Amino acid sequence: MKGKTAIVLAMLIATPVFAQTTPAMMKAIVIHSFGGPEVLQYEDAPRPEPKEDEILIRVMAAGVNPVDAAIRAGHMSRFLGDRFPLIPGMDVAGVVEKTGAKITKFKKGDLVYAYLSFKEQGGYAEFAIAREDEMALKPKAITFDGAAAVPLAATTAWQALIDTAKIEKGQTVLIHGGSGGVGHFAIQIAKARGAKVIATASTPNQDLLKELGADQAIDYTTTKFEDVVKNVDVVLDAVRGDTLARSYGVVKKGGIIVSITGQPDQAELDKHDIRGSSLMAHPDSKVLEELAKLIEAKKVKPVVSQVLPLAEAAKAHEQIATLHTRGKIVLKVADAPK
Ligand SMILES: NC(=O)c1ccc[n+]([C@@H]2O[C@H](COP(=O)([O-])OP(=O)(O)OC[C@H]3O[C@@H](n4cnc5c(N)ncnc54)[C@H](OP(=O)(O)O)[C@@H]3O)[C@@H](O)[C@H]2O)c1
Repeated sequence: MKGKTAIVLAMLIATPVFAQTTPAMMKAIVIHSFGGPEVLQYEDAPRPEPKEDEILIRVMAAGVNPVDAAIRAGHMSRFLGDRFPLIPGMDVAGVVEKTGAKITKFKKGDLVYAYLSFKEQGGYAEFAIAREDEMALKPKAITFDGAAAVPLAATTAWQALIDTAKIEKGQTVLIHGGSGGVGHFAIQIAKARGAKVIATASTPNQDLLKELGADQAIDYTTTKFEDVVKNVDVVLDAVRGDTLARSYGVVKKGGIIVSITGQPDQAELDKHDIRGSSLMAHPDSKVLEELAKLIEAKKVKPVVSQVLPLAEAAKAHEQIATLHTRGKIVLKVADAPK
């Protein structure tokens, strides 16, 4: 009897300790070493806990960006370090699950979307951590899949055209890569500002450029843009390759080239009496709020060409690596709450 009491007592004491020390788990895409898409493993990972200035988001969908593949391959390790395990993913849409003590802007149950900064715990998971200045309320006009497609790509387009080039009504903007993640938002943002838009893409994406509102669509497989474009106010270069080097001559004096893929050549800029800027996008909740307004006003809509289950992240990375994705690819993490 004495022995039995001791066992029961020991169990009573041990149970709460066990409950406190075992972290809650979640499904996630985890990488344990840099490499190809095959290093993206679908497995159990500890569910993160928000610090006092953080928010825990129950992720419904995660957006896929070319930078995710660069991180996975180790090309960004000088910024991120090489701490493993690493969960990739910078775009999420979901529901606020828990808020840290200092959070005032959001509460449990809010529907949100976020552009997460570089960290080891990214968005390809059932739960992700965000700061207040990385997120905003999700536009009601779009689904979680659509909302997860927006943050990084549309913020990049906004920071290039609005914050850097400061485009104005009536100006002409040339957008290289108009059918991609960044480019398809850039066309719509420029049109919403009252600009005239010229955009480039390959033959199968000419229809998309027009649907998005481009005034002139150029098929780069049949036409050299510099043969048909001149005197634009702004170039947004969202393509890797020689498009930047070929763009200096199509900009009018005093105009600007904003590149998100390379550094404009100062000697060429000076020669043509134009300005240039190389942009590295960053999370900004104010931009997400502005984008939400444009989405609610039906002036901007995300184009999602593929929705894959979270477990198939490797397939999404194979596609994003082609650099010929139409609109965005999204990973579905959970079904939207009823
Ligand atoms: N600096 C930053 O902060 C930042 C932020 C976001 C992205 N990026 C970089 O910017 C680039 C674009 O990103 P993304 O997310 O838009 O990529 P994406 O979704 O893969 O889109 C690429 C698009 O470029 C088009 N394209 C390819 N070659 C082209 C050419 N020669 N002329 C015109 N269009 C061409 C493709 O259209 P077709 O299929 O019709 O060829 C495709 O729609 C990537 O290199 C990415 O790493 C940088």
